[in-house]
Amino acid sequence: MKKLVLIAGGALLVYVLIVLAIAVIPAIELSRVPPGPGVVDLTPVQAEGRRVFAANGCAYCHTQQVRPLAEDKEFGRPSAPGDFAFQTPELLGSERTGPDLSNVGVRKGSDVWQYIHLYQPRALVPQSIMPDFKFLFRVMAKAPAGETAIPVPAPFAPANGVVVPTPEAKALVAYLLSLKQSSIPGYDMKGAAPAAAAPAAPGSSGAPAAVAGAYVFSQAKGQALFTANCAACHQASGEGVPRAFPPLRGNAAVLDADPTLHLRTILEGAHGKTIGGATYGSAMPPFASQLSDPEIADIANHERTSWGNSAKPVTPAEVAAVRAKPAGADQ
Ligand code: HEC
Ligand code: HEC
Repeated sequence: MKKLVLIAGGALLVYVLIVLAIAVIPAIELSRVPPGPGVVDLTPVQAEGRRVFAANGCAYCHTQQVRPLAEDKEFGRPSAPGDFAFQTPELLGSERTGPDLSNVGVRKGSDVWQYIHLYQPRALVPQSIMPDFKFLFRVMAKAPAGETAIPVPAPFAPANGVVVPTPEAKALVAYLLSLKQSSIPGYDMKGAAPAAAAPAAPGSSGAPAAVAGAYVFSQAKGQALFTANCAACHQASGEGVPRAFPPLRGNAAVLDADPTLHLRTILEGAHGKTIGGATYGSAMPPFASQLSDPEIADIANHERTSWGNSAKPVTPAEVAAVRAKPAGADQ
């Protein structure tokens, strides 16, 4: 009997110690981490959106944790404990069927994009395997006063009526747009894995593809960068999405021999312009902090030489010159 008590008691003690060491103490420590620089609490609408996010199982396919690995660089800087000060319980996720969402408010900072994508992901990303969330929208004969209909592209729009978001969809999109990483000095992946880390082309036997300083436009790289950063809105065809995102085929800024407006749009984003006689309700996000000068030159040259466009190519030096002189400077 005494032996049994000893064994059971010993096992219980080991169990309690393990729980303290791997769960209770880390949880107490984490709850004391102050918010990181620039990390602010969610508004009531964003907090409601976080609830909708959890309730719809978005975290089964999307992580919100960026690892300090080169392969995670596209998702942002590595996550820090202070990022989660107001996001408890954390929705870290463990499966990445879709991209990490820690910084998606910067990458896809357009509410119109988020609405169309939730209504039907394939309307914007043809190869997407994300389920649609149409039940977060209503189809109505016409948008009620004060509401804006979502410009769903024709093949995916309902035969009759317009698509209007429910309060749940609005809260969810407010939450998604709030997912923006703040910058932490010295805590940045930029430069850690420069573009030069790209795998050597087959047959190049490891020799450096380009001598530093000499820029050679690579259509393959330009197209890959365009696909990763721009095609979700402007489409791989450069046709855009009517009323949502302008076409780049035949776009005046892209065709202009003076590349200033073209490069400035990529660096600083754009909003509320009249483009080819049309206006667009959503914003183009800025890419200055995410793309290097040669990367922007590659993307710009891809746009300038695709879909029937034929405009004078640009160089990284021209990108650097526009970057050094932000919009306010010349007005
Ligand atoms: C079955 C897995 C799955 C589920 C569930 C899912 N997604 Fe996705 N999601 C994906 C995939 C795959 C992509 C990449 C293709 C695309 O952009 O549609 C994606 C892309 C995204 C993007 C764009 C990310 C980027 O960087 O371009 C957002 C935003 C997003 N999902 C939000 C959500 C939200 C919000 C929910 C819940 C309402 C959700 N997803 C549920 C698989 C999923
Ligand atoms: C989230 C959606 C989105 C993404 C991603 C996006 N754009 Fe845009 N883009 C827009 C919108 C919306 C406009 C129209 C802005 C306006 O109304 O002023 C626009 C406008 C433009 C224009 C036209 C500017 C003009 O004055 O005619 C160019 C060129 C352009 N984008 C290039 C790009 C490039 C290159 C990328 C990728 C690096 C990109 N866009 C990524 C949404 C996007």
